[in-house]
Amino acid sequence: MPVITNINDLKRIYERRVPRMFYDYAESGSWTEQTFRENTSDFEQIRLRQRVAVDMTGRTTASQMIGQDVAMPVALAPVGLTGMQHADGEIKAAKAAEEFGVPFTLSTMSINSIEEVAEATSKPFWFQLYTMKDEDYIRRLIQRAKDAKCSALVITLDLQILGQRHKDLKNGLSAPPKLTPRTIANLMTKWAWGIEMLGAKRRNFGNIVGHVQGVSDTSQLGVWTAEQFDPALDWGKVEKLMEMWGGKVILKGILDTEDARMAAKLGADAIVVSNHGGRQLDGALSSIRMLPEIMDAVGNDVEVHLDSGIRSGQDVLKALALGAKGTMIGRAFVYGLGAMGQKGVTAALDVIRKELDTTMALCGERSVDGLGRHNLLIPEDFGGRWQE
Ligand SMILES: Cc1cc2nc3c(=O)[nH]c(=O)nc-3n(C[C@H](O)[C@H](O)[C@H](O)COP(=O)(O)O)c2cc1C
Repeated sequence: MPVITNINDLKRIYERRVPRMFYDYAESGSWTEQTFRENTSDFEQIRLRQRVAVDMTGRTTASQMIGQDVAMPVALAPVGLTGMQHADGEIKAAKAAEEFGVPFTLSTMSINSIEEVAEATSKPFWFQLYTMKDEDYIRRLIQRAKDAKCSALVITLDLQILGQRHKDLKNGLSAPPKLTPRTIANLMTKWAWGIEMLGAKRRNFGNIVGHVQGVSDTSQLGVWTAEQFDPALDWGKVEKLMEMWGGKVILKGILDTEDARMAAKLGADAIVVSNHGGRQLDGALSSIRMLPEIMDAVGNDVEVHLDSGIRSGQDVLKALALGAKGTMIGRAFVYGLGAMGQKGVTAALDVIRKELDTTMALCGERSVDGLGRHNLLIPEDFGGRWQE
């Protein structure tokens, strides 16, 4: 196994190993990718306050997210088509998360189904829901997540329509990949991926295929989304979904204080400050830039998590110090999964925990719950002001 010291090491191996279509799917943002880029570069603008001669023994990164114990407050974010990044990708990522002691979130658009992941794991995972026009399908999907004993429903609110990612259209993204001269030429250079994929439990959308009718082509994400996702989703419908679920709910995709207030008012157990990893509204602010304003608005009313742009334990620490109780990582674990399967996801989590732990120590903190704005230097204009 190569020596992995940071997330970029995993990304380099990932790029070599996985077919271009799926690398591009993960490694892109919408339109100009400004928000995608700023999600990571904005973390660099926040500086850390070094403290010395503080007893740093007995440190812990352990904490809680929505009342569940976690080895560190970093959950695996829902990522569609994870099972195309590596054979049985959702099962492998879920197992790595379970062993590490962090939550795994299964996407509606996963390859392995809810049932397959439940069968392969022993602790409850979280299920992410996209709202669709077909209410009967949604009801059955929620019931399947209940039957699988999922411990939270993550309702994603920022994808009623799909943000355009140029590369996916040009590559003809689909699961499984359609065999064209171009994809065949690329797949021939990814033989290890291909051989493993031949033995995979599944190569299509496990939560969808066989569970819905009247869909013209379930293999193409873009087509499916346009036909099925519910453009009429509003807060009233969110409330109904929360009632239908009846358990813990996390509302994901909040990037505005007004929306954060609505989510808190509905009684969500947590919100995820997120711009979907820069994949939806290009030109939106980075999540980390919006976090202070959202904390000020609802920090006392609802648990706040953050994702989009986290590539290191230092990024996690900055989000926690700004007040988030937890974080989610998307691409950072996908790089690990594509690079080396389950071991790669564990490697990604290990890297992040070490960075978080060492940074805590050098900032003079012994627990993640002790982190605060006192650990940070934030540029004066970091927040900005919206036009009235
Ligand atoms: C390839 C890819 C697929 C994604 N699919 C989903 C999805 O199915 N559901 C969802 O709620 N979010 C999805 N997201 C967004 C992630 O849950 C998360 O918000 C985002 O990846 C965080 O940004 P990061 O990748 O910079 O960590 C996806 C992100 C990526 C990169």
